[in-house]
Order: sequence, then structure tokens, then C-alpha cells
Amino acid sequence: MYQLARSILFRFDPETAHHISMSGLRLAEKTRLLPLLFPEPECISPVEVMGLRFPNRIGLAAGLDKEGDAIDALGCLGFGHIEIGTITPRPQPGNPRPRLFRLIPQQSIINRMGFNNSGIESGVANVLRSKHFHGVIGFNIGKNKDTPNENAADDYLICLRAAFPVAGYIAVNLSSPNTPGLRELQGAEAAARLLDVLKHEQTKLEAEHERKVPLVFKVAPDLDDAHIDALSRVFLDGGLDGLIATNTTLSRSGVEDHPRHGEAGGLSGPPLLARSTEVLARFASHLGGRIPIIGVGGISSVEDAKEKIRAGASLVQIYTSFIYQGPALVAALARAL
Ligand SMILES: Cc1cc2nc3c(=O)[nH]c(=O)nc-3n(C[C@H](O)[C@H](O)[C@H](O)COP(=O)(O)O)c2cc1C
Repeated sequence: MYQLARSILFRFDPETAHHISMSGLRLAEKTRLLPLLFPEPECISPVEVMGLRFPNRIGLAAGLDKEGDAIDALGCLGFGHIEIGTITPRPQPGNPRPRLFRLIPQQSIINRMGFNNSGIESGVANVLRSKHFHGVIGFNIGKNKDTPNENAADDYLICLRAAFPVAGYIAVNLSSPNTPGLRELQGAEAAARLLDVLKHEQTKLEAEHERKVPLVFKVAPDLDDAHIDALSRVFLDGGLDGLIATNTTLSRSGVEDHPRHGEAGGLSGPPLLARSTEVLARFASHLGGRIPIIGVGGISSVEDAKEKIRAGASLVQIYTSFIYQGPALVAALARAL
């Protein structure tokens, strides 16, 4: 059935197709059609990671439900966790269109969305409105485009404070290639400073709200080994609660033949798998289980997901393969892992 839906959706430009799908999903959930089609969300082998109970190991990566307005609908499809965002303190339109491109032969995507979102308050309100999802909701937070890097911590703090009462975990996005300068925050010194400020605030918020909300950093796949080694030390010293490896890549390896390969933005899907898993494995070798890792990047089969787990991931996420393969993949992954 998804193949039929996909063949219709892929006639539209990718962003229009995205909006149609999200509206369709929300409608199907509201009219209770989705729960009828997917009667038992996958709660096959619950796992505890970062002190949170996840119904299964498979999650939806950030970027698909930027605002958190389809959590219940996406939850029906079997995700054990849904990461909403990236959300910034203030609403912003993102980059001009077109900014999303399908590379169909490679089952991949290039995007330069640029954190289009309606702001943290709206994300929080949407999460409060969601009623049926029993998995974990992650809040992926970022800085506004017009906030200079010197003040980036202020933006993350605004989002952390707003999301804290309702988030399962908070993911600090340092790795989008589509906000100029953002990846500089992954420099070891910059990351250490930011982690220190955010951990400090997290401790205060935990006392205030009497609940623990793990703090997770999301990194790029385009880090060299020395950089990974330095960041691992920063994360261990700073008491980071979790790591997401990885975001999209600037590399075009594997898609050089596609006419769209020169579009600016981050590449996702199978061409990203090998490098993303290498980065994950190198982080895992340093972190030695002390900081759990969520593996994301290029997973398009059960075998790919198992490879992430073997490389050291406790949980995995998908985005691009969900667009190409639909809900059947979520169920297969939830069952297999
Ligand atoms: C269209 C699109 C938008 C994305 N937006 C975000 C985002 O806002 N924040 C973020 O941290 N990652 C974002 N990502 C990256 C994904 O969360 C994920 O890390 C990446 O796509 C690799 O996984 P995949 O190969 O399964 O897609 C986006 C990816 C795509 C394809």
C-alpha cells in the first residue's frame, strides 16, 4: 500500500509531498483510521537507555516532525521514540525553496531546510496536546540563524528551559550543515563550554522540576579521527548523558553521478551509512558504554540497523529510508532489534 502512496507522492515536489503526507497522517490519526490499520504499536522488547524506558530501539530522527504536530500519528506507526525539531527559540522560515531534493536511484536526500520551524513555544504546546504516544519524545534544539555563535548558548538555554518540563530527552544540534557556522560549535573547546553551561542549567532544572531529562549532543559524520578523540574526552569530562551519531554529510561520495549531487546541503540515506557507522564506532570505542549512543545515518534495512548496534549504538533512528520505504520498515526494525 505504501508503494502506491509513494508513487503518487513522488509526483509532487519533495516539500509539497512532505506536507501532504503529514496532513494525511494527522487526519488518519484523528479519524482513528491509523490505530485501526496499526492496532498494536511495537512494544516488543522495551529497553532502558539514559534512565528512560523506550518501548523498542527504533526512533524517528529529527527533521521530519519539526514542530511536533504529528506525534500521535507517527507514534501509531511503531516508533519507540520520536525526536521533534530542530526547534529554535524564535520562529524562522528557513532557507528559500527549493531546499529538499530526492536522489531516487541512490534512495537518498539532499536537504538545506535551515531550521524552518515555528519556535520553541509552539513545539512545547504541540507536545502538551499529544495524547496517545507512549514512547519517548526527544526535543532537538538549535540556535536561530541570526544569533551569532558567541550567543549560541543563550538560544540553547532558552530552548532547554522551555522544553525541560515536557521532554523525554533534549538533543543539542551542533551538526546541521544548513545554519552557517553552527558546526563550529563542535570544536572541542566550544563544545566543552556549551556542555558546561547546559549541564549547569540541567542540574538547576532537575531540582526545580524534580525530574531528570538527559542532555544529548548530535554530531556530524564529517569529523576526522583526532576531532572525534578530542570530543570524546570533552563528553566524558563534561558528563554528557547521550550522543547522537550522526547528522547528514557534506560529502557527495556515492552520488557523484546524480545530476543533483551539486546542490548545497546535507546528504542522507544509504551513501551516508558507512562513514556514519565508522564515526559511531570510534566514539563508542572511547566512550566505552559510559555515554549511550543513538545511531543514525543511512539505515535502510534490518542488517544496517544491526550494524549500528554492533558498532556500539543502544538505540537507532531513521529518516530517509522511512520516506522511501514507509511504515513497514519501522515494524520490521522494531521486531528485529
Ligand atoms: C529533510 C531532512 C531534514 C532534516 N532536518 C534535521 C533537523 O532539523 N535537525 C537534525 O538534527 N537533523 C535533521 N536531519 C538529519 C536527520 O535527523 C538524520 O540525522 C540524517 O538524515 C541521517 O539519517 P538518515 O540517513 O536515516 O536520513 C534532517 C534530515 C533530512 C533528510
